[in-house]
Amino acid sequence: MAALTTVLLQVVPLFVVILFLLKLFQILKKRSDLKKVFKDFPGPKPHWLYGNMKEITGDLDGLLRTADYAATYNGVFPVWMGPVDAYLNMVHPSTAKHVLSGSDPKDEFSYALMRPWIGEGLLLAGGRKWDRNRRMLTPAFHMDILKHYVKIFNQSTQVLVKKWRENPGCEEMFHHMSLLTMDSMMKCLFGHHSNCQLETVRPAYIQCVYDVSDLIIKRIMNPLHHYGFIYSMSENGRKFKYACDTIHGHSNMLIEQRRKLLETEKSGSRNVDFLDILLTAKDSDGQGLSDQEIQDEVDTFMFAGHDSTASTLSWCLYNLALHPEYQDLCREEVEREWGDKSELTWDDIHKVSFTFSCIKESQRLFPPVPNVSRCAEKDITLPDGRNIPTGMRMAVSLFALHRNPDVWDNPEEFDPYRFSEENKKTNAGSGNFIPFSMGPRNCIGQAFATTQLKVVVPTVLRNFRLTLDPTRPAEPEAMLILRSKNGLYLNIKAL
Ligand code: HEM
Repeated sequence: MAALTTVLLQVVPLFVVILFLLKLFQILKKRSDLKKVFKDFPGPKPHWLYGNMKEITGDLDGLLRTADYAATYNGVFPVWMGPVDAYLNMVHPSTAKHVLSGSDPKDEFSYALMRPWIGEGLLLAGGRKWDRNRRMLTPAFHMDILKHYVKIFNQSTQVLVKKWRENPGCEEMFHHMSLLTMDSMMKCLFGHHSNCQLETVRPAYIQCVYDVSDLIIKRIMNPLHHYGFIYSMSENGRKFKYACDTIHGHSNMLIEQRRKLLETEKSGSRNVDFLDILLTAKDSDGQGLSDQEIQDEVDTFMFAGHDSTASTLSWCLYNLALHPEYQDLCREEVEREWGDKSELTWDDIHKVSFTFSCIKESQRLFPPVPNVSRCAEKDITLPDGRNIPTGMRMAVSLFALHRNPDVWDNPEEFDPYRFSEENKKTNAGSGNFIPFSMGPRNCIGQAFATTQLKVVVPTVLRNFRLTLDPTRPAEPEAMLILRSKNGLYLNIKAL
């Protein structure tokens, strides 16, 4: 026994030292491999320990710095996230296009924390599963279906108008726009009338959707919480689990209600929506989606759909408050084109082209999804001959690309005329303007979102004058979507 103990006392430390050396070797090898690749990709000098993490941040300084580097480093530069972790940041259409037009999977590091919430829905799925589900769900966003949503978007916006008319003052935009988009998403996609815009206390489901987004950001910021076991034991980990369970319970309830309805109702008695398609679509082998897949898609679309549209609306109203001359022009256009019409149609919303240019210009300067990321599945050769090896993590900074001075003249200036009929071909050419991303994994909800934007922005402007609150300036911050660190407050004056 004593002999065994002596051997163990000698062997175990030796084993630990060997393991440590192996790990160290692995780390040094990874660092040296990355450095070799990055020889062709000049970029900001990294600190040996924390890399570029202190300069490429999600706050306004970090975002603007990334936009500055876009011009300095020829469309792509490396970002070190520590001593051994790094990715290539694409900030010019010539490089971004190569990443987004391929079928490389999402970068696991960036998206994995969302998996317990939205599962393997379209946003996170890859390979054949993504391909099959994308094909099955695309018909849900056909123009014939979207046309019916104009009425719903209008009704939901009228709830907001009534609320603001009764209580004019200084309001935080993200709060109101999130409730508005949530309300209309649930009606359009799931036929569910939540009345969430009118509740004085947020319904639990909606509170939980808010909470999970915030908790994910908090988790990203805390490296210890990247370890699943440690996170599950923490208070935030427990809150996250509770929120996910509540959301899943709610989506299950919506699915079950619809299943029952489909069994009993006469076909053709109402318009087909997204949930009908989820429950009835079949792939080319005649297979439908499994229960788990249906739930993952419901959760995915709730998240992907409401938050990014709320961000677009909030930043757009902010920009119009910042530029009253354009706000007036939009209002004149809406009055001219819509008169006193209250029942809006598909044709009406396509008449407000200047207002739509303002929406696009706002999406250029404040892209609601500021970054997307991928992992190279095979080697990629850029047009200038530089090679990106298999396994490399890659991001496209939409924020920096949209402000790249090699792409846009006076990029910091808010100028909706960039998107006028005469200019849009040169300015919004392939890959210059990509708030909905591009390529096979672009946003499936683009037309849905655009339809909603074209109803909400003009309707708000024909009812209210918006001005900034100088005491609370907005400050962009890249979270899962682009938010404002201190909220986005505007004064609302009824017309
Ligand atoms: C203005 C509002 C919106 C913006 C700016 C936006 C932007 C984007 C972007 C940039 C992506 C690519 C993400 C990536 O590659 O990681 C994306 C994907 C996606 N979006 Fe949107 N989105 C908006 C609204 C919507 C709406 C309303 C829906 C649903 C009704 C939706 C559903 C999705 C889904 C499911 C994906 C994943 C698509 C796939 O990978 O096949 N989005 N969106």
